[in-house]
Amino acid sequence: MTACTSVVSGGPRQLLPDVGTVCYRLPNIRIGVQSMKAEIVDAARKAYASAGNAITLGAILHDGECHPEPIVQIPLAMLNRHGLIAGATGTGKTRTLQLVAEQLSRAGVSVFLSDVKGDLSGVGAAGTPNERIDRRVKDTGFAWNPTSFPVELLSLTGKSGAQLRATVSSFGPLLLSKVLGLNDTQTSVLTLVFKYCDDKGLALLDFSDLRAVLQYLTGDGADELKEYGGMSKQTVGVLLREMVELEQQGAESFFGEPEFDINDLMQTERDGRGLVSILELADVQDKPALFSTFLLWLLASLYNELPEVGDVDKPNLVFFFDEAHLLFDGATKALLDEVEKVVRLIRSKGVGIFFITQSPKDIPASVLGQLGNRVQHALRAFTADDDKALKAAARTFPKTSFYDIQETLTTLGIGDALVTVLSPNGAPTPPFATRLVPPAARMGPLTPDEMSQRLGSSAQVREYATPIDRESARELLAKRIEASAAAEAGSDPGDEQDERAAGGGTRRAANGGRAPKPEPSTLEKVINSPLTRTVAGVVTRGIMGALLGTPRRRSTRKRPSLW
Ligand SMILES: Nc1ncnc2c1ncn2[C@@H]1O[C@H](COP(=O)(O)OP(=O)(O)O)[C@@H](O)[C@H]1O
Ligand SMILES: [Mg+2]
Repeated sequence: MTACTSVVSGGPRQLLPDVGTVCYRLPNIRIGVQSMKAEIVDAARKAYASAGNAITLGAILHDGECHPEPIVQIPLAMLNRHGLIAGATGTGKTRTLQLVAEQLSRAGVSVFLSDVKGDLSGVGAAGTPNERIDRRVKDTGFAWNPTSFPVELLSLTGKSGAQLRATVSSFGPLLLSKVLGLNDTQTSVLTLVFKYCDDKGLALLDFSDLRAVLQYLTGDGADELKEYGGMSKQTVGVLLREMVELEQQGAESFFGEPEFDINDLMQTERDGRGLVSILELADVQDKPALFSTFLLWLLASLYNELPEVGDVDKPNLVFFFDEAHLLFDGATKALLDEVEKVVRLIRSKGVGIFFITQSPKDIPASVLGQLGNRVQHALRAFTADDDKALKAAARTFPKTSFYDIQETLTTLGIGDALVTVLSPNGAPTPPFATRLVPPAARMGPLTPDEMSQRLGSSAQVREYATPIDRESARELLAKRIEASAAAEAGSDPGDEQDERAAGGGTRRAANGGRAPKPEPSTLEKVINSPLTRTVAGVVTRGIMGALLGTPRRRSTRKRPSLW
């Protein structure tokens, strides 16, 4: 593990920053008079002494002076204890996220980033030195090597990465309610609709399935609603309208199959570095309810699919939620409870989560309390509300005699932060103002050319490009209606012989046309088909039970690294 190297051994003599004194750096020794109080540096060294393998954050700041030794680190073993990167706009949150993500990849940990502003794809290209970076490198005494990292891009529209898709069933009623902006009553009706589909063996794969079910329940199947107390035809009608709206926003591309396999996130390159998967969200920036819910779905899927590993030397995956307040905006109590539970329990599956947001206040207390590693960039205190948020943020830090926490929080510069992390024994380190080291990759997006080259050569992009259309609720309901019409007319639709029943394999809807569907011999056969049961059987378990697949082993990517 090289990430925490503080001094380039054997490097040329360098003039170190003008932090009030002149000092020279020689291989592994420093000569010079430090004007920062030795007491503070000693305390920091002591606090971080047992970090072991760690991610380097930066160097200690005090009274405007930076001690050129990158002491402040997060132990790799503590990264499944989650974290928060907070601060006002433009204070350095995204770059902090980037530098942590890069070092995780270097340490062999896979990383997932949500890129709301579209400024993280540059992790796939090496950074270029400039005066500001040079200055920061000197300030922090960090061995900076411009590097690119293995990156895969994902996208909800399929335009700027591999198409991320989920079935409506695995999304579950709670998450779907969040996307649709439903209130508690409507959510409980949607939950009953899922229950109904579960009972009747109707697989909800894509949006047309759900719409077919809702249409059926407000039309021909209205009588069936009676068995499900509390499900009114009017409310089902409301759901239908909300769905149509979401469909108009392009829902058909992200609901359906093939569903994204979360094991695709858990990959390492042949050189041992962890894959950095970046979900490009700039093209759906105006649909926060949609993308934030997809992120929750991913998290829930990880929770469900990954095996228990207990506490590990380093996590298997670290998940970064940028603009994390969106995850909680408008979430129902039931959903918040689920999220809180997933965050608490996912730790033992070797997954760490970082929330990135402006103020700690954006995160519910039950989740905030679980975030052991804190990088708090500057907060502004213009309004009374700001002031309240500042006081609240200050209160979450351990006590220190070295800093006035509130004052520090309002006076930190860009790319500086107040940091406290969990030391290997689980105790929080005292807070230190820290100048963060620069990321090694480019701080900004890939160019359009780099982007299209990358997308064109990605096997993952190809793998998810074509939707699959399998027999599901829409077709089954159509048949049901047909069957009852035929029964009324006295004929028997079961005469058609076809032993394949529903789900006789998946078919690619190639060339825009639909492959002919196998005809079931009877409706019963369809409903009882093992495939329909498997898919439909999981629909009512909510996000905690969304996916019950067998965990697969962590894989090494077969394809050579391109960058
Ligand atoms: N660790 C860092 N190293 C180098 N430059 C940084 C660092 N942190 C912040 N910066 C500079 O500050 C700018 C704003 O940071 P950014 O992370 O985009 O802010 P935020 O995400 O909080 O809005 C960056 O574009 C970069 O120039
Ligand atoms: Mg940002």
